[in-house]
Amino acid sequence: MEPNKLDVVLGLQWGDEGKGKVVDVLTPAYRIVARFQGGPNAGHSLVFGGKTFVLHTIPSGIFRDGTLNVIGNGVVIDPVILMEEVRQIRPMGIDVASKLVISKRAHLILPTHRMLDAASESAMGKAKIGSTLKGIGPTYADKTGRNGLRVSDLLAPDFTARYAALKQRHLALLAGYAPLSFDLEQAEREWLHAVDEVKQFRLEDTEFLLNQALDEGIPVLAEGAQGSLLDIDFGAYPYVTSSNTLAAGACTGLGIAPGRIGSVYGIFKAYCTRVGSGPFPTELFDADGERLRAVGHEFGATTGRPRRTGWLDLPALKYSVMMNGVTDLILMKSDVLDGFDAIKVAVGYRKDGQIRERFSSDCEDAEPVFKTFPGWKTALGGIRSYEDLPQAFKDFLAFIEQQTGCPVRIVSVGPDRDAVIRR
Ligand code: GDP
Ligand code: IMO
Ligand code: MG
Repeated sequence: MEPNKLDVVLGLQWGDEGKGKVVDVLTPAYRIVARFQGGPNAGHSLVFGGKTFVLHTIPSGIFRDGTLNVIGNGVVIDPVILMEEVRQIRPMGIDVASKLVISKRAHLILPTHRMLDAASESAMGKAKIGSTLKGIGPTYADKTGRNGLRVSDLLAPDFTARYAALKQRHLALLAGYAPLSFDLEQAEREWLHAVDEVKQFRLEDTEFLLNQALDEGIPVLAEGAQGSLLDIDFGAYPYVTSSNTLAAGACTGLGIAPGRIGSVYGIFKAYCTRVGSGPFPTELFDADGERLRAVGHEFGATTGRPRRTGWLDLPALKYSVMMNGVTDLILMKSDVLDGFDAIKVAVGYRKDGQIRERFSSDCEDAEPVFKTFPGWKTALGGIRSYEDLPQAFKDFLAFIEQQTGCPVRIVSVGPDRDAVIRR
């Protein structure tokens, strides 16, 4: 028998590809869903029964019956945001405590991490990263700097003293920045209260739970956050997030050996968006860009910021497929392009008088070369089978498959969990 493997869902662009929806759609085939990196900078939207839910920390399998949800060691947790999510979900009749397990090795975001994020961003002025200001960068910096507080510290008798020591360290760093308007006392009260509430959940070394589940043949799905082009190593540094968003991050972020990775589901939109600063070769500043934002409701699920919009970037997509070992593509938000007469796709970049087909670190700000497809001018939202799709859309899909060398297994044609075409 083929040994049981861990399947991974992750974003191939700059985040917000629709990972939350896809995890919700795939979860019925799994018994465990595990987040492996990032933190509340993520905003994963799920739409069903006429309602929208946005999850930041809790895995997107939480709404399906019989699914255990794991927050892995690679995640950074803000206890206040986690508890707000729990309160959002409880009225649905979901017993979160019985469905959630948190790694004791996951790091904690302190109120002073958020202050450091804000202070660092405002000190950078125009060069700012455009961080979600959730304290992600400073928390991972403390993790790699070996100063951080972990979930396991919550159970230590001297937790309060450890917290106070790290806070003092942060206050000393903050003294080097312009003063912030931030009510630390209030934030600290809320944080300490939430920290107490987090102790009610199963806190474990989740690497054992996950490996044992795989040994027993239990199907496990890993849920990525952010996107491949925001990866700390392979994104356009410094305009990146502070974790490894690639499939490899699922190994370190959950304690799973590389040979145990199975299918890698790469999620991408039929166009591109980016929120925050940094290079974006196919970005549009015209009426088409405005239209993508309006029709696609491209406003951040975490910060509400308008997302920058642009055409699909194939060299960038191919790069992400390569770096993740994507086995299956999932195409999102094709319905947003329904009304366009012409649809463009970048197939290369013009750089130093040459056309390059590679998305390398020196093409991050290059001028794209486009191929234009005729629009399908058909509402895709109600279609549920591949055969019923318009030919112009099938041609667009076939071109993506041919270019990436990867099959598109699911086409998503609306926000609702039912709006999918499986192939
Ligand atoms: P995530 O961070 O990758 O989970 O994505 P977000 O939830 O931040 O953003 C995706 C947005 O697109 C959400 O508002 C979803 O409800 C919505 N969405 C997902 N799939 C589709 C789709 O196929 N069509 C349309 N029109 N919207 C979609
Ligand atoms: P999901 O999981 C889109 C972006 C921020 C900023 C950069 C660094 O919903 O796809 P950070 O707060 O991590 O220090 O910000 O990364 N960013 C995201 N963009 N979707 C996300 O998550 C993001 N998480 C972070 O806008 O440019
Ligand atoms: Mg999002």
